[in-house]
Amino acid sequence: MASRVQSGNSWSLKADRRENTDQNDASRIAKQTADWTAYATSYDLLADYNPAYQELVKECDEFLSGIEPPRVIFDVGGGTGTYSLLAAQKFPESAIYLIEPDQGMRMRAQEKLSGFDNITYVGTGLEDAEISVKADTIICVHSLYSMPDQTERLKNLRDFLEPGGLMFLVDLGRTMNVTDWRSYLFSHLTREYGLIKALKVFWQGREIAKQNKAIFEAQKNGLYWTHTGAELAASVENAGFEIIKQKSVYRDYSDLLLCRAAM
Ligand SMILES: C[S@@+](CC[C@H](N)C(=O)[O-])C[C@H]1O[C@@H](n2cnc3c(N)ncnc32)[C@H](O)[C@@H]1O
Repeated sequence: MASRVQSGNSWSLKADRRENTDQNDASRIAKQTADWTAYATSYDLLADYNPAYQELVKECDEFLSGIEPPRVIFDVGGGTGTYSLLAAQKFPESAIYLIEPDQGMRMRAQEKLSGFDNITYVGTGLEDAEISVKADTIICVHSLYSMPDQTERLKNLRDFLEPGGLMFLVDLGRTMNVTDWRSYLFSHLTREYGLIKALKVFWQGREIAKQNKAIFEAQKNGLYWTHTGAELAASVENAGFEIIKQKSVYRDYSDLLLCRAAM
């Protein structure tokens, strides 16, 4: 009897230790990756002032303009809801699921989308999302690279899509060169708005530079996925998608793929 109790205790001690180790690993990884909540405070400056980001929104707008109204749209890693907003404005009858694990990002999205009643907020990572319906359209912009295990995540995306459903996928593949982005944005802003306004926007957006540096570090440490366009395409095809269109975007830092779930 005594030994059974003892072995029970040692099991629970081992389980506690494993849980502590998992928690330590999670907090170590969190410290070495982007702080999405901090990023959320100035994230929408990208939509306001970064022409490369605006081009992506335009690409998505064109994609959505060319399809029949979807029944169900998933916006995976939807951040502050820029793409869900686009979808909600175009398709007020569609059910939109914004999957976003970070509370800071999600709160911004909820504020931005407060005028719409067709949005469901899913506050988990893609890997833990439990949604009882399948999507006929998925939007996944600049979030796949930051998720754990892209092979499994692409399978999740495939499983969430109806056969024949469409996915608008954009993923950051190359390492984030903060100096390059800084000089690109600064010359754009001074040209468009003058020096004073450029300095003001840079000051407002200082968290963006900080988090982009964190993204760069995480890419270098292998915590965030980097890939070429061909590597992303191969992973997407292996997960059961057919690629309809592919191009390099976001100043060649990212790849855009329009994909169809195999029948
Ligand atoms: C760079 S932001 C992109 C936001 C938005 N798609 C956009 O382009 O404006 C990356 C987002 O991916 C989210 N993310 C990180 N890990 C995730 C996961 N496992 N599942 C879903 N989203 C995730 C982050 O919380 C963050 O909001």
